Amino acid sequence: MEGVNELAYRPLTAVVLAAGEGTRMRSATPKVLHRLCGRPMILHVLDRLVELPLARIVIVVGHGAESVTKTVQEQLATEIPVEFVEQRFQRGTGDAASVGLTGSSFDLDGEDDVLVLTGDTPLLRADTLAALATEHRLADAAATVLTAELDDPTGYGRIVRDGRGNVDRIVEQPDANDAELGITEVNSSIYCFRRGLLAPALRRLDPENAQGEYYLTDVIGVLRATGHVVVGAHADDATETLGVNDRAQLAAAEAVLRRRINRYWMREGVAMTDPETTYVDASVDLEPEVRLLPGTILAGRTAVGARSVIGPHTRLVDTIVGEDTIIEQTVARETEIGDRVTIGPWVSLRPGTRIAAGAHVGTFVETKNADIGEGAKVPHLAYVGDAEIGPGANVGAGTITANYDGRTKHRTKIGRDARIGSNTVLVAPVEVGDGAYTGAGAVVSEDVPPGALAKGVPARIEEGWVDAHRGTDEDDEPR
Ligand code: UD1
Ligand code: MG
Repeated sequence: MEGVNELAYRPLTAVVLAAGEGTRMRSATPKVLHRLCGRPMILHVLDRLVELPLARIVIVVGHGAESVTKTVQEQLATEIPVEFVEQRFQRGTGDAASVGLTGSSFDLDGEDDVLVLTGDTPLLRADTLAALATEHRLADAAATVLTAELDDPTGYGRIVRDGRGNVDRIVEQPDANDAELGITEVNSSIYCFRRGLLAPALRRLDPENAQGEYYLTDVIGVLRATGHVVVGAHADDATETLGVNDRAQLAAAEAVLRRRINRYWMREGVAMTDPETTYVDASVDLEPEVRLLPGTILAGRTAVGARSVIGPHTRLVDTIVGEDTIIEQTVARETEIGDRVTIGPWVSLRPGTRIAAGAHVGTFVETKNADIGEGAKVPHLAYVGDAEIGPGANVGAGTITANYDGRTKHRTKIGRDARIGSNTVLVAPVEVGDGAYTGAGAVVSEDVPPGALAKGVPARIEEGWVDAHRGTDEDDEPR
């Protein structure tokens, strides 16, 4: 395969078709914004495109134009100029390509090649696109179409070749006859065109077909009929050309991407007990010797430091984890976790939680907007919200920070090395000083000075109460 840099000798521009509604998704979200491994579909296409030495990228938007444009502008990192043009009415891929060529950045007399692709093929690789453009140029073709052999070609346009094996035309599924339906070589919707030849060919399209649309695919037949060279280039890996039109295809494409991501991280030294049940978003960052146990989901801007062990059955969203940390059976969002921390099982860490090095958060604990100091322990059954727990402090089982008075939230502060007795209710705003203690069951609504003990509600003993109140044996039956 020719290298990517081979392409630099003639300007190459890309037109990405992304104006369609995606009716088959049955969704209010524009199709190209549906996510795979946390990243919108069109971004997967664009991420690969920007690896090529392109002069510019034109994106044809229409359905949900505003949100598609905004998403790309916010999430695409590239130096390549990107332009958006609007296709007002979705009259087919041929019409969309024509609209794409009206992009103001096109130099009208320029002799360049145009890569035309759709926003719904998220599994593409940059090397495949580079090879397509190279093959196009070597053959000095008017058009080169990337094709794939599929066991089940249902739904795709079929590549019709002539007696000499040259691509003659493309026929869409609804327009195909029985013989054509039997063709297993399909159109990937990824093409390279000589722009000077594409524009006039597009003007010759008509919507006389089963769907009443201007088909970009018809350009192939038009170019052939006018004596131009059209090349059909086989994709080495047919999965790369998978088009996503419905939710089943979305799930299938996501599964392929997920496997790619997992293979990448395993090569980087990440251990996965069961890659099939390990879900790592495209935006996640992992250090070598991280271990991911079954049922682990790492989403958004999550990062995990070296040798940390995550899972089983743990979901981390936008969460930063330090080194040598162990997290099991936990859900965490927008949380920062330091080195050598142990968390779980069955913990819910909500946004704004920060857990410093060496701390422990144990079974059935919920935290929110909480700073847990170095070496502090919240081992069991607690709610810690809008709170700061000092280094070395120990929070007993059943402790609650009562942070909400029915109207506003208030903060609780627990000092360094403080000991909070089991079942303490800390009625915020309240502060427990450094080294202070609270007794079991205390309801603390006043600040506790450093070194003090806050005792509350001791049970009153009533000697002989049971005998005095015992009724007949019948009343004693268990209820
Ligand atoms: C298209 C091809 C088919 C190919 C398949 C590969 C045509 C006529 N058919 O079919 O041969 O096998 O892709 O995945 O080209 N779009 C617009 N404006 C429109 C219509 C569509 O921008 O007016 C965009 C869509 O947003 C989408 C892309 O073009 O990203 C392709 O449209 P889609 O409806 O998915 O075409 P397919 O039926 O998949
Ligand atoms: Mg499609």
